[in-house]
Amino acid sequence: MFERWFYISTSRLGAVQVDEQVRDIVDVSRPRNRLLGVTGALLFTGRRFAQYLEGTPAAIAELKQSIIRDPRHEDVRTIASGPYDVRRFLTWSLAYAGPSRFIANKVEDALNDALQGNIESVEPLAEVLAGFAVEGHG
Ligand SMILES: Cc1cc2nc3c(=O)[nH]c(=O)nc-3n(C[C@H](O)[C@H](O)[C@H](O)COP(=O)(O)O)c2cc1C
Repeated sequence: MFERWFYISTSRLGAVQVDEQVRDIVDVSRPRNRLLGVTGALLFTGRRFAQYLEGTPAAIAELKQSIIRDPRHEDVRTIASGPYDVRRFLTWSLAYAGPSRFIANKVEDALNDALQGNIESVEPLAEVLAGFAVEGHG
């Protein structure tokens, strides 16, 4: 049985060398997720993270514990979670929206929508992550 965890959080990364800081997260996440059989995507807009993770309930629970207490972000808010029958991602990847202001703004709008409890926005948002995600990147 698969479970997914889709959340949005607020970045606490310092402004200096932010790319390297995101890269550090990815470098640790990639092997650990692979080991746990977890796939998904991490989106970073410069201000917020959105992350979609999918795997066994035990693996998701384990990661959730680490991620929630990570001081590099705060205000971790679940927008969708629980059993889900399809895997959306083939690998774990980084979907990075930072460099494009236009896209970042669109994504911020979508994230704000989801945070306001607009449940209809959850699936389209997951598709945005899937669309950004570069397989094998990050
Ligand atoms: C936004 C964000 C997303 C993260 N995503 C993952 C992830 O998908 N997989 C992972 O192993 N660690 C992820 N991490 C890092 C974990 O929080 C943690 O630092 C790392 O897994 C090491 O675990 P530990 O602190 O329990 O030793 C993420 C951190 C942040 C800030």
